[in-house]
Amino acid sequence: MTLRLDASALAEAAALIRAGGLVAFGTETVYGLGGDATNGRAVAGIFAAKGRPRFNPLICHFASAAAAFAHVEANAMAQRLAAAFWPGPLTLVLQRRRDTPVSLLAGAGLDTLAVRVPGHPVARELLLEAGVPVAAPSANRSGAVSPTTAAHVLADLDGRIDAVLDTGPAGIGLESTVLDLSGAAPALLRPGGVPVETIEALIGRVRSGGPVDAKRSPGMLASHYAPALKLRLNAASVRGNEALLAFGAALPGAAIAWNLSETADLAEAASRLFAGLRWLDAEGSRSGLDCIAAMAVPEFGLGVAINDRLQRAAAPRG
Ligand code: TXA
Ligand code: MG
Repeated sequence: MTLRLDASALAEAAALIRAGGLVAFGTETVYGLGGDATNGRAVAGIFAAKGRPRFNPLICHFASAAAAFAHVEANAMAQRLAAAFWPGPLTLVLQRRRDTPVSLLAGAGLDTLAVRVPGHPVARELLLEAGVPVAAPSANRSGAVSPTTAAHVLADLDGRIDAVLDTGPAGIGLESTVLDLSGAAPALLRPGGVPVETIEALIGRVRSGGPVDAKRSPGMLASHYAPALKLRLNAASVRGNEALLAFGAALPGAAIAWNLSETADLAEAASRLFAGLRWLDAEGSRSGLDCIAAMAVPEFGLGVAINDRLQRAAAPRG
């Protein structure tokens, strides 16, 4: 069921969540699949609807930093980051409080919990009305491309969820930056909507790019965001079997092409990435192509997160 956005839709979505239902909703990053994080059955339903492995923990969403910090041990650095970037596309991994009612399944049994206050005003209104911590992974089947519209959500999850609250296309189009503050030093677990340089300007050097510690970041699977077509990175030409994912001035010779940003604008490119992968997949398959040639995207600002997603989309499938 698609809930078109109005006051009654918001109330209905919040009531569904309180009753243990599964409601997809738009945020500023991507659409999330929300359920009451304190309700073990709802959380189990999220894993089942996505086909998500149970070792991969979920982010809990809150309407305010105060609400979030009631469930985790917020150290001084977390307070500073929250003041600077919440509401917004930053997720903080912190020690979970012993007395939190958040289900252990939501956190995949870890002693940490990922928390975030989304920037989308409707999402925050929904969280406020729901009045419970809302576990919400991206609203796609596990391993697939994240959804940036309600139509993308339904393409993956129709029939498996109770409703999607249509809040229009997601503005940023890439998931939140995930920063682990539970260890001795801050560690970047996933580049995302807040560029790591912006975080470092506030708190100094952030560890990233090292070998991924599977226990610390169980969700960072090498293959993810996988379109049906293969993906070839840093393409300098287009071959006969390929559709083109362009950035800036497009390479010649592609029968099927999606330009992330003709003006090479990284924010525009981020917002068009997942829709582009889905579109190229559909159009390319229809035309008998078997690969997407992706032009290089610069490795700074939002480009870091774009390249992270492209690398995972290109990784050998497990
Ligand atoms: O922008 C976003 O973050 C979106 C919207 C809906 O909020 N959500 C999202 O959730 O991308 P998901 O489940 O697709 O990705 C969450 C990532 C996963 O890589 C997961 O492993 C990691 O965060 N994560 C969650 N809890 C964690 C924890 N306690 N420790 C380490 N990593 C955690
Ligand atoms: Mg996801």
